[in-house]
Amino acid sequence: MKIAVVLGTRPEIIKMSPLIRQLENSELEYDMIHTGQHYDEEVSGIFFDQLEISRPDKYLGVGSGSQAEQTGEAMIELERAFQKLDTELVLVEGDTNTVLAGALAGIKMGLEVGHIEAGLRSYDYRMPEEYNRRLTDHSSNLLFAPTEKSKEILKGEDIWGDVFVTGNTVIDACIQNMEIAEQKADFDFELPEKFVLLTAHRAENVDDPKVQENFIETFEEIRYPMIYPIHPRAEEQFKEHGNLKRLEGVEGMKLVPPQGYLEFLMLMKRCEFIMTDSGGIQEEATAPNIRKKVFVLRRSTERPEAVEAGYSTVVGTEKEKILEEVKSFDEENWDPEGCPYGDGNASKKIVEILEKR
Ligand code: UD1
Ligand code: UDP
Repeated sequence: MKIAVVLGTRPEIIKMSPLIRQLENSELEYDMIHTGQHYDEEVSGIFFDQLEISRPDKYLGVGSGSQAEQTGEAMIELERAFQKLDTELVLVEGDTNTVLAGALAGIKMGLEVGHIEAGLRSYDYRMPEEYNRRLTDHSSNLLFAPTEKSKEILKGEDIWGDVFVTGNTVIDACIQNMEIAEQKADFDFELPEKFVLLTAHRAENVDDPKVQENFIETFEEIRYPMIYPIHPRAEEQFKEHGNLKRLEGVEGMKLVPPQGYLEFLMLMKRCEFIMTDSGGIQEEATAPNIRKKVFVLRRSTERPEAVEAGYSTVVGTEKEKILEEVKSFDEENWDPEGCPYGDGNASKKIVEILEKR
């Protein structure tokens, strides 16, 4: 069975890396295809080097564009690549345009499609990720759900493929890389002793000038050292709406370029708490070697397990609510449950299932 591992953005590279290592040690034959949705070294190339995985066999150079351009271009290029490589099974991970393109191109060619991180739902239709993950789930033969809850969601939608509960490969990545991060993380800025870690890049947040202003006003009131590794989309959008200088000028704010994974692991480990609209970071904060409180700067989350286990609180994008929640965080008495996203063996379980086919 010839497998194509399809990836294209920062979180897909990180979350696919434990699976690629596992495939490398198996008898299964695979190719890695990068659509090129992310192309800057700091959100793509650096992760192959830091995670010590080989560079992709094919790089499709799709790049940025509108939703349809990016998804359509990726589909066309992926179809060609699958033909050339004699692909029989396509593996995608998550909810990006690359993921939807990989699943649709594969299923339309009659290939098997496996969706890793299946069954997540935010029920927020403003998010391209929400329809990407729904359409991908319904175009897949194999659904690797991270939790029992995500499996139940899939069953409730009468999904046609086979569902397996495996945990999330991002926990494998945290466990495999923390020790390396402790030895090798290398910051080109000074790390304050105590700080809040901040990220925001979701289109429905950073493309909206009103939300940008709400965030800036909120950060202005936090008055605590904050580190914000800024995603290229967010930087561009804050600049376009004339808000970048004001963001940079917030008291305590250290705006830094996107960080490598080893550096980001250390930032998560060392911070006091996290404020983010990222999906993956909500999961990583529950890893046994991270365990951090996350204030989710969004109206909804497709990761309710982290909320139920006591790690995350969804605080929306309005200043009053965010500050109220942040100020009432009682670190001394904070004691979340164990990790809801598995024990670090998700990629092993996925490869075992593939080996049996
Ligand atoms: C994408 C995913 C999002 C994921 C995020 C991970 C979709 C719909 N969105 O969002 O789910 O959370 O990746 O980080 O698939 N850009 C650069 N350099 C790059 C890549 C992008 O400067 O290497 C800039 C471009 O101006 C581009 C913008 O970022 O237009 C957005 O990039 P895009 O890949 O469309 O979406 P992301 O916001 O990165
Ligand atoms: N990450 C990183 N450097 C950064 C910010 C994030 O390596 O500066 C990692 C983080 O550890 C997580 C992933 O990128 O594994 C999350 O990616 P992102 O927030 O861009 O996407 P999402 O998970 O929201 O799709």
